[in-house]
Amino acid sequence: MKNEVAVLYSEEEIARRVVALGHQISQDYAGRGICVLGLMKGSLVFMADLVRQIRLDLTMHVLKVTSQHERTSSRLMTEISYSTAVPLECRDVLLLVDIVDTGVTLSYLLGHIHELAPRSLRVCTLVDKPYARKIGLHPDWSAFSLAEPLGDRFLVGYGLDHEERYRGLPYIGTIERGAAPA
Ligand code: IMP
Ligand code: MG
Repeated sequence: MKNEVAVLYSEEEIARRVVALGHQISQDYAGRGICVLGLMKGSLVFMADLVRQIRLDLTMHVLKVTSQHERTSSRLMTEISYSTAVPLECRDVLLLVDIVDTGVTLSYLLGHIHELAPRSLRVCTLVDKPYARKIGLHPDWSAFSLAEPLGDRFLVGYGLDHEERYRGLPYIGTIERGAAPA
């Protein structure tokens, strides 16, 4: 079966949201320097665009969460790794994530980052799926928030993958979950 990508947010729509978000974040942190921490790999494209719209003194870092049983619904997070030793003490940290779905990944990450005692820790997500939450967490900023469940569809593109594919699409679309790749 061919897996067609249905466009959900166009390249232009994303660009407009990223400009607005960059402006908002710059105002909210006005006069401060921030440490942008991007969750690999889904937030990388978003991070590259967003940092160019933030008018603040910032540093960029990436981190990765390794999870076992990633394909099951009861994922077990096992490891967290950073690109470099990030000196988070006394820093204002902006964590960028691709999607907040159940909130399990984010809750795990926040727990670990808090231990490093940053001065502040806030979260910006590319896409929020608030209806899917199992843990009561709310990102401070989101580029897009889905009002309704996607049913059996899955988000791809603009950094988001399905089994590592589709990250290079310039827009965000949906594919049928479980359908064979095109
Ligand atoms: P959570 O732990 O359930 O909140 O899941 C968050 C993670 O699941 C994100 O960082 C994404 O990598 C992945 N994810 C959840 N929904 C989607 C989707 O629709 N498309 C691509 N990845 C997704
Ligand atoms: Mg993924």
